This record gives sequence, C-alpha cells and structure tokens, in this order.
Amino acid sequence: MMLYRFFMSILAWGAILGNVGNAQPSPLDSFTNTKRATSPSEATAFAIIYGYPMIQYAASLDSVITSVGTNAIFSEKNTATADEAAIVRPNVDTLYSKIAVDLSSYEVVITIPKIDDRFYVFPFYDLWSNNFANLGSLNNTAPGKYLLRHTPGRSGFESLPKDTGYLGAVNFPTPYGLVLPRILLKNNSTDLDIVHAIQDQIKVEKGRQTIPLAPPLSYELLGSGTLEPLALTPPAALDTNSVKALLTVVARVAPYNPPANARDIIPVSSVLRVAGISNGRYSPSTFVNYTEANQIANTALTSTEKLIQLFNNEWFDYPPEASGNFHSSYTIRSIIAYTGYLQLVQDEALYPEYIGSGIHGLSLAGNESYTLTFSGKPPVKGFWSLTAYNSSSYLIPNPLNRYSLGDRSSLTYDDSQLVYGTGRNGSFTILIQPADVAPPVNWTNNWLPAPAGGGNFTVNLRFYGPTGPLYAGGAYAYPVVKKQAVIVPQ
Ligand SMILES: *[C@@H]1O[C@H](CO)[C@@H](O)[C@H](O)[C@H]1NC(C)=O
Ligand SMILES: *[C@@H]1O[C@H](CO)[C@@H](O)[C@H](O)[C@H]1NC(C)=O
Ligand SMILES: *[C@@H]1O[C@H](CO)[C@@H](O)[C@H](O)[C@H]1NC(C)=O
Ligand SMILES: *[C@@H]1O[C@H](CO)[C@@H](O)[C@H](O)[C@H]1NC(C)=O
Ligand SMILES: *[C@@H]1O[C@H](CO)[C@@H](O)[C@H](O)[C@H]1NC(C)=O
Ligand SMILES: *[C@@H]1O[C@H](CO)[C@@H](O)[C@H](O)[C@H]1NC(C)=O
Ligand SMILES: *[C@@H]1O[C@H](CO)[C@@H](O)[C@H](O)[C@H]1NC(C)=O
Ligand SMILES: *[C@@H]1O[C@H](CO)[C@@H](O)[C@H](O)[C@H]1NC(C)=O
Ligand SMILES: *[C@@H]1O[C@H](CO)[C@@H](O)[C@H](O)[C@H]1NC(C)=O
Repeated sequence: MMLYRFFMSILAWGAILGNVGNAQPSPLDSFTNTKRATSPSEATAFAIIYGYPMIQYAASLDSVITSVGTNAIFSEKNTATADEAAIVRPNVDTLYSKIAVDLSSYEVVITIPKIDDRFYVFPFYDLWSNNFANLGSLNNTAPGKYLLRHTPGRSGFESLPKDTGYLGAVNFPTPYGLVLPRILLKNNSTDLDIVHAIQDQIKVEKGRQTIPLAPPLSYELLGSGTLEPLALTPPAALDTNSVKALLTVVARVAPYNPPANARDIIPVSSVLRVAGISNGRYSPSTFVNYTEANQIANTALTSTEKLIQLFNNEWFDYPPEASGNFHSSYTIRSIIAYTGYLQLVQDEALYPEYIGSGIHGLSLAGNESYTLTFSGKPPVKGFWSLTAYNSSSYLIPNPLNRYSLGDRSSLTYDDSQLVYGTGRNGSFTILIQPADVAPPVNWTNNWLPAPAGGGNFTVNLRFYGPTGPLYAGGAYAYPVVKKQAVIVPQ
C-alpha cells in the first residue's frame, strides 16, 4: 500500500497548507456530525450509505468501460423509453453522452464543440457523484479544448492562460469520475440528426502523463458486474451478500478517492476502518450484525425527510447545499444516487417533486386523475419538463409513448390555443390520468399518462437554468395539484 501512504501524505500536506478546498462543517449528516464513536454495525450502516454511489457508478459505466474504455466518449443515440431500466429517473429531454474519467496517471483533454441555440451542459462529477463543476450554455462556454486533471484537495473550474493551449482546467478532487454531457433535444424529428452530429464532434483524448496516484480504473476494479442494485427506500431490506460486494468495491477505491470535504477525511476513514474497510480490503469484524446495520441505515434514510425544503403548493426537494454537490450530506447523497443519480447543482437545475400525501409520491385508483394547474410558463433560461415515473423510478408505458410534457410539447390553453410558440403567458393545466383511460380529444396534448389501472408513482418537475422566482421562497406559483374522477369523453 505504498501508493496509499503517498496519497495520504499529500492530503496531510494539503490540510496543513490550508489549500484543501470546500472545508465546511457537516450540518446535515447524522453520522459524521453526531456519531463519531460507532459500533461495527453503525459503522457498516455508514459505509453502505457513504459507498452507495459506487453501485450506480458501476451500473452507469460498466458497459461504457467494456465497450469504449475509460477516457473515451459513449453517446446515447436515443432518449430512454419504458422498455429500458438502465438509469433511474431518466430525463427524456436531452441526449446523454458518458465518459468514464480516469485521471490516475494521465491528464485528459476534452473538446467542446460549438453548440448554438440550445441548452447543453457538460457536468463533471467526482467518484462519489458530486457535481463539482459545469460548462455549458448557461456559462456561455467557449468551444475549444479543456484540460481535465486530478488535483487532490482542490476542485472546480479554473481559467488557464492562453499559451497553455487550453481554455481552462477542470480540477477533479478524485482520480476517477464521470462526465455526462447532455444536449437538449427539440421536439422535432429532424433534430435527432443534428444532436448526433454535435455528439460526434465531442472529442476526448489522453493528455500528459502524471505520477501514478491510483491503479487504473477498470471493470474489474468496479467489481466486474458483481454490484446489485440495492433499493434504498426505507424500509429497505438490504441483502447481506450485496452489501459485502459493495463494501469490497468501496474498500478498493476509498484510499485514493477521499471525501471532498477535507474535514471529513479523517472521521470518514476511521468509521470505514471500524466497518472493516482498510488498506484496500473489506474484512468485516465478527461483531457486525448486518440486520442491525440495515435498521440503522433505514433510520438515517428516514431522518432526511426532515431536511427537505418546500417550495409553494407542496412541491419539495433538498436544500441547495445537499443538491448535486452533496458536501457532507452522505445520507441525502445515497438517496439521490438511488432515486436520481447524477443530479446537477441548483444553479444548473431544480428537480421539484410533489409531496402529495407524503414524501413517497402520488397514488391513483384506476378511476381517478390529477390535474396540475400551472400559474403560467415557468421562467427558465434552459427548458422545463414534467416527467412521471413508476414506483421503481422507471418510465411508465403508455399508448402515446409519452413520458414527459413541457416547453417543447404542444400543450394547449383551455381555449385550445398553443401555450408555446406565442408570447401569451397564462394559466394552463396538465392532466395525469391512467394510461388505459383516454381523455377527451381537447385534453390529449396535455395528458401525461400514469400507470394503467392506477397505482403509486411520482412526478418530477425539471427546471433547467432556473431563474430567481423558481427557487425556494421565490415568486413563481408552483402548479396546484388536485385529485378528481378521471376525465373521459361524455
Ligand atoms: C456556470 O454557471 C453557473 C450558474 O450560473 C455557476 O454557478 C458556475 O460557477 C459557472 N461555472 C463556471 C465554470 O463558470
Ligand atoms: C426542426 O428543427 C430544425 C433544426 O432545428 C429546423 O430547421 C426545422 O424547421 C424544424 N422543423 C419544425 C417542423 O419545427
Ligand atoms: C442482530 O440484530 C437484530 C436487530 O437488532 C437482532 O434482532 C438480532 O438478535 C441480532 N443478532 C445477533 C446475533 O445479535
Ligand atoms: C408567466 O406568468 C407567471 C405567472 O404570472 C410568472 O410567474 C412567470 O414568471 C411568467 N413566465 C414567463 C416565462 O414570463
Ligand atoms: C417499473 O418499470 C420497470 C421498467 O419498465 C419495470 O421493470 C418495473 O417492474 C416497474 N415497477 C413497477 C412497480 O411497476
Ligand atoms: C412532442 O410533440 C408531440 C406532439 O405534440 C407530443 O405528443 C409529445 O409529447 C412531445 N414530446 C415531448 C417530449 O414533449
Ligand atoms: C376541454 O374542454 C372542456 C369542456 O369544454 C373544458 O372544461 C376543458 O378546460 C378543456 N380542456 C383543455 C385542456 O382544453
Ligand atoms: C402505495 O403506497 C401506499 C403507501 O405508501 C402503500 O400502502 C400501498 O400498498 C402502495 N400500493 C401499491 C399498489 O403498491
Ligand atoms: C372509484 O371506484 C371506487 C370503487 O371501485 C369507488 O368507491 C369510488 O367512488 C370511485 N371514485 C371516483 C372518483 O369515481
């Protein structure tokens, strides 16, 4: 474990020199703040929650690494449908590309092409799913070359002098990470070709060699497909073998990929050690009781409900300091990894959910529907949409193959005039009704199908490029939600 020691000494120096960025207290996490002295079961519960993003990292990148390798781009050619269950809560507004970033012994150069007249974002994530930097249309990012490099203890975007040949550097706090370029798709059949052409112009190349600080990122390192999708919604019943597989992978990556918050480096590694994670291996103590660890994890997951922030009209999400870039909010980080992996920071996007009768979403009988009455067009610089998901966070099959409505849809006002395409800004209503109950013709454009026969489901608003009125406490009146009988032709 020579490399490990070398790495820890760099971190120690960073701490001493005071240049370890982002050092905030941990106000939001019950584990790191109030419970440092832990039993093996408590420590195991923490390790599951802390390490959970590795499950989604592997699920998202295993196929990318086996098909194109690391530091290479893989572009999705179509948006998600209800037939796939690859990504949870996929958005159907943008086309994604994926880059498994490995900066363990190279810098990497990414070329951002010129992208006109549409929203796009290149979000950068560390290994633990923290969205620590973004380039894109909201930033008026100039097309050209950007340098990706591993800078222990430091993260974020940095401008570089012209003579370097780069427009800037994206400093990764961990050697492994992820870039997930997203390009908005206009609702128009020829647009797919235009976006494919843009994707083809994104280039990723190896740059300068650096002192190796970690082993190369590989499919084997990520567990070679052994990680099971652990459902984290309490009361989660976590399978012990799946937990062990997860913690084995966490043990392998943790030494080189410390928490971004410098204050957490020591407490996190000491709790992980109590869980049996040290020197790259997972060797649990014989005193671990996995049932008890599961219960402790459930209590922590449930306790985050107290931390949600309410917008108006009963829409909610987590507060800005625990959205996209989670800092020390490890429990929220794990929940979002499970329900909405690769969230963006709130500067880039808001993802309000409707609280309904509780945090777990909406529910309809087969003869019921919801109406969502919008006060007016949401004020966004990017785009907005409303997407419905089944209770496992996947898209809902329906005869229209429609998963989402928003600013690129043919929504109509009550007088059947189009909402978008004119300057008029008034109130309009979206109808959420089971997929097997077709509404009258004048509602068709505004119909977002719910599960056939009714059932539990959730909806997400997405505000990309939100403006002031949309943030918590802002002036925009969120949609008013009402449940009533299904609306059917008379
Ligand atoms: C990009 O814009 C966002 C939102 O305005 C801002 O928070 C972020 O710092 C900007 N990033 C860069 C690299 O300038
Ligand atoms: C579809 O998009 C293309 C490119 O953005 C545009 O040229 C064309 O006019 C659009 N077609 C329709 C029917 O809106
Ligand atoms: C493990 O924990 C569970 C739940 O707290 C408890 O019911 C069980 O008796 C414990 N098992 C052992 C062997 O201590
Ligand atoms: C549309 O009107 C609503 C309600 O008055 C307002 O909150 C919103 O900002 C307006 N949207 C735009 C895009 O101007
Ligand atoms: C949700 O959708 C996925 C993908 O279609 C499916 O596998 C799963 O069974 C559905 N879950 C529920 C609760 O209907
Ligand atoms: C695109 O427009 C069609 C026709 O109005 C509509 O059925 C569909 O839902 C729209 N797609 C999205 C993603 O809004
Ligand atoms: C459809 O028509 C009914 C009856 O005239 C009306 O109450 C309703 O607002 C209309 N809905 C839409 C979306 O146009
Ligand atoms: C829907 O959720 C409620 C409350 O969470 C639960 O009691 C009920 O069993 C769920 N229904 C289905 C069909 O899963
Ligand atoms: C839906 O059906 C149930 C029984 O099948 C009935 O009790 C209920 O009143 C109906 N709800 C509406 C809104 O029609």
